[in-house]
Amino acid sequence: MSEPAARVFPTLEEASRALADEIARTLREAVAARSRATLVLSGGSTPRRLHEILASEHADLPWRRIHVFWGDERFVPHDCAQSNYRMAHRTLLDRVPIPPENVHPWATELPTAEDAALEFQAELERFFGCSAVAEGPPRFDVVLLGMGADGHIASLFPDSPALAVDNRWAIPTLAPDEPRERITMTLPVLNAARSVHFLVAGAEKREALRCGMGEPAQPQHCPASLVRPTDGTLTWWLDEEAAR
Ligand code: 6PG
Repeated sequence: MSEPAARVFPTLEEASRALADEIARTLREAVAARSRATLVLSGGSTPRRLHEILASEHADLPWRRIHVFWGDERFVPHDCAQSNYRMAHRTLLDRVPIPPENVHPWATELPTAEDAALEFQAELERFFGCSAVAEGPPRFDVVLLGMGADGHIASLFPDSPALAVDNRWAIPTLAPDEPRERITMTLPVLNAARSVHFLVAGAEKREALRCGMGEPAQPQHCPASLVRPTDGTLTWWLDEEAAR
């Protein structure tokens, strides 16, 4: 992995604008090189402005060739206020000309979180044309991640056994807060990406950022420190509040 880069901006708005430009550039490059691009969205609230800027300033992206996935999801209906799917549709996907078949949600309508994880894994194998055993994890062009104040990323929480899973690309997990049932990509998938971008803002993230960007003695306490792309770039997009 190349050295992680940190880019600090006065505000989340400015960090979001710069990250949107970088994502747009990377997606265009991917389409030019491989005729399609793959983008993994994160959940939570931090990426809302990033999504809105992508929709308003980059509506001319080749959306017909861009496929969107989520790094994790809450196991709730897609129309639930806590759904990452719902947030992404309201702030981005309903505002750009992306074909419905290019949007790959977690199937939270299935009976259990395990069913949704198994279906998502099957979707990844169909889309990338590879099997979990034979070819290793799929390689996404852009993975967006947020980080909780406890250092969690996607729905991989501190000291969770999920952090050690390396034979599945998608698994159910339990969050410490409601909604507790989650489904998430595993670290091997996130670390297979061509580019990983953290967008982190706010003073409450400072402590987690210090260990997430460092080499903590017990990395399982801070899942963000385990995100180190094996053959890709890692960039932290920060506001001054978080980076101070
Ligand atoms: C989720 C996210 C999660 C999020 C962090 C930060 O489903 O909630 O994937 O990992 O990125 O919890 O959330 P905020 O951006 O709301 O601080």
